[in-house]
Amino acid sequence: MNTQKPLALVTGASRGIGAGIAEKLGASGFHVLINYVSNEAKAIEVVKKIEAAGGTAEPLRFDVSKEEEIVSAFEIIAKKGSPLAVLVNNAGISEDGLILRLKKESLDRTLQTNLVSAVLCSREAAKLMMKARAGSIIQISSVVGEMGNAGQVSYAAAKAGMIGLTKSLAKELASRQIRVNAVTPGYIETDMTGALNEAQKKAITDNIPLGTLGQTTDIAELVGFLAGPSSKYITGQVIGVNGGLYI
Ligand SMILES: NC(=O)c1ccc[n+]([C@@H]2O[C@H](COP(=O)([O-])OP(=O)(O)OC[C@H]3O[C@@H](n4cnc5c(N)ncnc54)[C@H](OP(=O)(O)O)[C@@H]3O)[C@@H](O)[C@H]2O)c1
Repeated sequence: MNTQKPLALVTGASRGIGAGIAEKLGASGFHVLINYVSNEAKAIEVVKKIEAAGGTAEPLRFDVSKEEEIVSAFEIIAKKGSPLAVLVNNAGISEDGLILRLKKESLDRTLQTNLVSAVLCSREAAKLMMKARAGSIIQISSVVGEMGNAGQVSYAAAKAGMIGLTKSLAKELASRQIRVNAVTPGYIETDMTGALNEAQKKAITDNIPLGTLGQTTDIAELVGFLAGPSSKYITGQVIGVNGGLYI
């Protein structure tokens, strides 16, 4: 699909936080590329929601844990005729467990899907954005990358890595007017946190000063701001949306 609108790619946009971000960017005038890996029906649902609200979007399947799929996807994006204005590295998985039981394959999968993917997508996006001398790259990290969490060593390492990526890349790309920021969500109601039982949810909310889990719209509003010109003087920042869980 060709479009005159600036493009925004959101990885992992078929569900949860990514879907919320995609809807916000669709309503903000971007043509949104809805990345997913297996859930095509859900990705199409997100496209339809954006269209029903007057925006435009299309699904774009690729596995962010595979470099060759990322490169092919960005070749498609480069041919779209509109500039890639926004990349949101949101796709992620969490495989929890204590370190003594940690399997190397699980560690590799977690780092590859959450962190290596964000580095490689940022590299491919930077190639396109540098030509345009404009762009906003937003990493969806996690409060767990800032404060740590027992049982989430691989996930925390990946999410903390995204913070280092953000700061270094912001310095590298600022001269080309490309901004790079990280958002660190606290506990947000999605399929990822849906796996928690009621006792676990209560233990978590008891520690959140604002007293509830967050909603996907809480993250989407901030990403919408970071994607647009109102945040033009903000780069290299790590911004928490966590109900006060980590201050
Ligand atoms: N929920 C929270 O409380 C929370 C807190 C802090 C940070 N985060 C971070 O926020 C991001 C989104 O979390 P969420 O809760 O919205 O997750 P979610 O509901 O589990 O959705 C995950 C999304 O990532 C996609 N995905 C997974 N592996 C992929 C791959 N290899 N290639 C492409 N897409 C892939 C999924 O696509 P399919 O539908 O095709 O499977 C789906 O769209 C993650 O990076 C997560 O770590 C979440």
